[in-house]
Amino acid sequence: MKHRIIIGVTGASGSLYARKLLQMLFTIPGELHLVISDMGWKVLTHELQAREDNFSQFIQSLTDDSTHAANITIHDNHDLFAPVASGSFRTSGMVIIPCSMKTLSAVATGCSDDLISRAADVTLKERRPLVLVTRETPLGLIHLKNMCAVAEAGATVMPASPGFYNHPDSIDAMAEHMVGRILDQVGINLPGMARWGD
Ligand SMILES: Cc1cc2nc3c(=O)[nH]c(=O)nc-3n(C[C@H](O)[C@H](O)[C@H](O)COP(=O)(O)O)c2cc1C
Repeated sequence: MKHRIIIGVTGASGSLYARKLLQMLFTIPGELHLVISDMGWKVLTHELQAREDNFSQFIQSLTDDSTHAANITIHDNHDLFAPVASGSFRTSGMVIIPCSMKTLSAVATGCSDDLISRAADVTLKERRPLVLVTRETPLGLIHLKNMCAVAEAGATVMPASPGFYNHPDSIDAMAEHMVGRILDQVGINLPGMARWGD
């Protein structure tokens, strides 16, 4: 079965990781359900200097006929009637990238008042892979306790900490390797990913 992945984008720094993850997923077959928070969109437009008026236009700008192999649906973060809000809608997992400390706390406490936190809650209760790509540093005790709580509940906390052992020659290469490691967590092996020992 092809993958069906939920991608949540929140208002932490690190929007380039979200862009890279999407660009890489758009090139392979599969079903993608995208949700961006209000602050996610504001931080993304600031960091990536996006000129598009909304997330749908931004997604369109990342796709073209040759790379657009995936089946993409964009959901409103305020729409708790969306399919991904229910456990009966089967998915292969969810990635929140980047994941703010606010959304981390919502997942840690089960306070699901937007679609991203609700879909994450559902992903955990259905025992599906949930990856939270955090960026915050340094981490306060509340952040660490929330990370412990979500890890105990089955999530993978994956700080955006790119490695240097592959001698990356650009920010893009660092982001690409990070995204490859994130996709490993949801069972997607992207062709061409540089791996230690290969
Ligand atoms: C430019 C900018 C960068 C931010 N970076 C972070 C960050 O790295 N980590 C974080 O937890 N919050 C960060 N924030 C704050 C979040 O956007 C804020 O807590 C927001 O309420 C998160 O909401 P959301 O999780 O619904 O997107 C940043 C805000 C701005 C304006």
